[in-house]
Formats: sequence, C-alpha cells, structure tokens
Amino acid sequence: MIKAVVYKSNTGFTEKYAMMLSEEISIPVVSIDKAKIILQSNDEIIYLGWIFAGMIQGYKKACKKYQVKAVCAVGMSEDTKKYVEDLHKVNGIKEKPLFYLQGGVDKAKQKGFYKFVFNMVTNMLLKNMNKKNEEEIEDDEIKAVYNMQHGCDFVSLENLKPAIDWYNNLKLKADL
Ligand SMILES: Cc1cc2nc3c(=O)[nH]c(=O)nc-3n(C[C@H](O)[C@H](O)[C@H](O)COP(=O)(O)O)c2cc1C
Repeated sequence: MIKAVVYKSNTGFTEKYAMMLSEEISIPVVSIDKAKIILQSNDEIIYLGWIFAGMIQGYKKACKKYQVKAVCAVGMSEDTKKYVEDLHKVNGIKEKPLFYLQGGVDKAKQKGFYKFVFNMVTNMLLKNMNKKNEEEIEDDEIKAVYNMQHGCDFVSLENLKPAIDWYNNLKLKADL
C-alpha cells in the first residue's frame, strides 16, 4: 500500500504537482527531507523530483530508503517520446512507471549554483541560435530560449492524469 507522495523541488513546480497528486489520490504529501517524520524505511511511495541536467533529483536517495512504486520527473522540456526514453536511460528506470510532467521556469526563485548554470546554458543557447540564419532556426529552439529567459509555467492537472489513472488502477486491483 502506497503511504505517501514524496518530492524534491527547487523552485516550487514539483511541489505544486506533488500537492495536486496528493489531493487527487488522498495520500499524504511530504518533501524528501522531512519524509522520515511520517515514513518507515522501506515504505511504499510515489516519488516526484525536479530534473537537473537529465537527472531526477533525489530519486537515488528515495530508492535507498523507500520502495519507489512510480516516479514523476518534472522538467521544462516538452513532453516527447524521445525525451521520456532518455529519462528512463539516464536515471536507470526500467521496471517501474515513469511519468514526465512539464513544470516551468521561475527565475526569481533560482539561487546560487543552479541559477549560475541555468544562465550559462541560456546564454549558450542564445548565442548558438543567433549564429544561425533565420531559416535554420527551429520553432522549438525559439520557444525554449524564450521560456528560459522570461520564465514559464506549464503545471496542470491534465498533465498529472496518467499518474492519477495509474494509481487508481493499482488501487482497484488491490481492492478486488
Ligand atoms: C541548472 C538547471 C538545469 C536544468 N536541467 C534541466 C534538464 O536537463 N531537463 C529539463 O527538462 N529541465 C531542466 N531544468 C528545468 C527544471 O527541471 C524545471 O524548471 C523544473 O520545473 C523545476 O522544478 P522545481 O520548481 O520543482 O524545482 C533545469 C533547471 C535548472 C535550474
């Protein structure tokens, strides 16, 4: 039986998704740093982590302490089949459901090292784009750089639907 929705968030988007999921499936929500207050080691959880350079933050730590039954990865990239395949590979996720959720960018909440790296990557992408002829620039590239410079918020209940459906099916089977 899944005991909690556990999350790690840097600027708040993953936290928002974790709260929404918790409400929808009526299971307590807690950050990974405070999880031990309500969880025993090896308890079953759903884990949500923000993505930094392709890695789902806190996922490894969560797996060491708890039984992670499903993972939600929150990033700013568009939800494509290829991106989700890469997330599986890079994070070594094989036999459990992985749901990708598009989060957002909140420049005001980025701090320290992560802010520095994010600005560096944004400037690099902008420079690369500006070197190209107009017809060579992809629409997705323009959108991505714009979102990185100005911020964006893609959080929606609709994005969470596959994860909610997965949980409801699991519960239905357990109740039978
Ligand atoms: C330094 C840095 C690196 C990032 N790397 C990725 C990435 O590899 N893939 C991605 O989709 N999003 C990436 N993001 C975007 C975040 O995952 C996205 O903003 C997410 O919604 C943050 O969630 P949070 O608000 O819970 O921290 C990166 C953000 C930062 C600051």
